[in-house]
Amino acid sequence: MAVIALTSAAGSPGVTTTALGLSLLWPRPVLLVEADPTGGSGLLAGYFRGTREYVAGLIDLALTTSNVHDVLAEVSQRIDGTEVSFVAGTRSHAQASALRDLWQPLAVELAELESTGQDVIVDAGRLGLVGSPEPLLANADLTLLLTRTSLPALSAVRSWAESAHRGTFGWQQAGIVVVGERQPYGAREVSGVLNMPVTASLADDPESAAVFHRGSPLPKRFDTGPLARSLQAAIAAIHAAVSRRRGELLEGALP
Ligand SMILES: Nc1ncnc2c1ncn2[C@@H]1O[C@H](COP(=O)(O)OP(=O)(O)OP(=O)(O)O)[C@@H](O)[C@H]1O
Ligand SMILES: [Mg+2]
Repeated sequence: MAVIALTSAAGSPGVTTTALGLSLLWPRPVLLVEADPTGGSGLLAGYFRGTREYVAGLIDLALTTSNVHDVLAEVSQRIDGTEVSFVAGTRSHAQASALRDLWQPLAVELAELESTGQDVIVDAGRLGLVGSPEPLLANADLTLLLTRTSLPALSAVRSWAESAHRGTFGWQQAGIVVVGERQPYGAREVSGVLNMPVTASLADDPESAAVFHRGSPLPKRFDTGPLARSLQAAIAAIHAAVSRRRGELLEGALP
């Protein structure tokens, strides 16, 4: 289908958790790229609880920007029993500046993966960090800004949403993902105040989120629980948004 990038403005609304949750439920083979320049692999330390070693990852790609295609295949690791592969993030925030020249060639490679039947989900971390993967956000088919709905959360995300709306970042298509709708504000209010469509709404489901975030034991009825169901709905909405935009682009290109 496409390259989907996830990011936030502030307050850890659940970008890393959602990126993994979407990947594990994704209906096609998918590559999850841990591109958060903060450092540390949320996946290795969290979901895998440190049981899986850091073998290679983003930093190895950054060291060979002339050969991103081959190295991308080498550093991608499979999550057993799934069609999810991932590229582990950097080990340290100190490596962030080394990533600067990687993002553009990596954006090109990720876009080309689609022809091999693989979609891409990018955990881009917070906006505005040193080493932030701006070209990945700009080249994604859909860039999703995650937020909770409290006033402090909306106040923090508002100026970023305004810039995105003005086209400052060059995002192809942007949407909001609301985490914990009606706590206290609803999707319609959030969309109105941020002047951006709400693409999806994820349940506030701490027990299920802890499975993706830190490898906690599965709660009862995890597969049909609130988070899993809302992730499934989000996948359908993401698919629809990407297809709609591609249809519009195609129409625009027709004589
Ligand atoms: N849908 C959800 N419902 C309830 N809790 C959630 C949900 N998604 C994430 N969380 C919890 O929120 C916390 C932060 O999650 P996560 O690390 O994914 O956020 P983040 O946006 O990636 O943060 P950071 O900006 O620090 O990287 C974790 O405790 C996680 O379990
Ligand atoms: Mg994160």
